[in-house]
Amino acid sequence: MDQEMTAFRGWIARDTTGATLDRLDPAMLDDLDTAVRVRYSSINYKDALALHGRPGVIRRHPLIAGIDLTGEVLASRHPRWRPGDLVTLNGAGLGEDLHGGLAGLAAVNGDDLVRVPSELGSLRAAAVGTAGFTAALSLLALERHGLAPETGPILVTGAGGGVGSIAVALLAAARYEVIAATGRPSELSGQLTALGAAQVVDRAELTSSGKPLGKQRWAGVVDAVGGPVLAGALAGLQHSGVATTCGLAGGAEYPGNVLPFILRGVSLLGIDSVRTPRLRRVAAWQRLAPLLDPALLDSVTRVVPLAAAKDAAASLLAGAGTGRIVVDVASA
Ligand SMILES: NC(=O)c1ccc[n+]([C@@H]2O[C@H](COP(=O)([O-])OP(=O)(O)OC[C@H]3O[C@@H](n4cnc5c(N)ncnc54)[C@H](OP(=O)(O)O)[C@@H]3O)[C@@H](O)[C@H]2O)c1
Repeated sequence: MDQEMTAFRGWIARDTTGATLDRLDPAMLDDLDTAVRVRYSSINYKDALALHGRPGVIRRHPLIAGIDLTGEVLASRHPRWRPGDLVTLNGAGLGEDLHGGLAGLAAVNGDDLVRVPSELGSLRAAAVGTAGFTAALSLLALERHGLAPETGPILVTGAGGGVGSIAVALLAAARYEVIAATGRPSELSGQLTALGAAQVVDRAELTSSGKPLGKQRWAGVVDAVGGPVLAGALAGLQHSGVATTCGLAGGAEYPGNVLPFILRGVSLLGIDSVRTPRLRRVAAWQRLAPLLDPALLDSVTRVVPLAAAKDAAASLLAGAGTGRIVVDVASA
């Protein structure tokens, strides 16, 4: 075994109590077609759950955590990849039933990899990560359903978080009028406006009436929160409006009813970034890479060393994360 290979470390969940930072024995990796030297990973809500031993993400033990990775191909039996290629991978079982990206070395399925867009480079591709990829999938879903900037404003919920902040930036760059809903309007108004939000609203506004139909305020919704916030967002959709749902930071229940669907003809589209087919993965990255302003992305990105990943993740569990956290896997 290469001496250097023994020096890799990673966040490994050996049981249900959470992950610890350990030396990585490359022999524990699966026999998959592509070896990647991981440069960066990121902290998504799911990573926070996995690192802290919350249920629902890690499906086998021991498992390296991390649903994202960005790095360099070391060796590949896959026809698309050569040593030295810069690649990124979001979901596809990583950090859930396949060893993940919070370690210096990964073995992955080459079919799931996407080339790092030249506009972004590796660190910014990691800053996009699953959160930004999901925001792009949401934008593509709304557009496939007929939404365009002239259709009307788009509400983004959980706007201060990872999916939310990148969704605000992407939609605004694509010339949509964005209404950002957050639980922290006084703290985050400036940041959300800088990302491109035309208006920032308190999420309490969405849940206060509890009624299934309200004033018709937006043509589309990108929801990362679920629960009463999703019900409130649907209540404010215009006739024939479209919402995407990807998250449950505010609850897995849908405490609404069928009235928005049958009286206003609204649609609710589900987003699953994990099992997104390859061509759609590539399409999402191609859509987001030229749209995202690198300086804006940097302004909502914090880079932490590998050893600080678990501590950094705690803020997401407290509902207090902002923007994106990149993990510098190569750092001490
Ligand atoms: N389906 C998919 O493929 C997919 C992909 C990525 C993420 N997700 C899911 O999407 C959600 C967001 O992920 P993320 O990585 O963006 O997480 P995040 O960075 O922690 O952002 C979540 C945001 O939701 C809001 N929030 C938190 N707790 C809340 C509560 N109790 N009630 C209402 N709002 C609350 C907060 O925003 P404000 O303070 O601004 O309101 C928070 O910043 C998670 O549930 C995640 O699992 C799903």
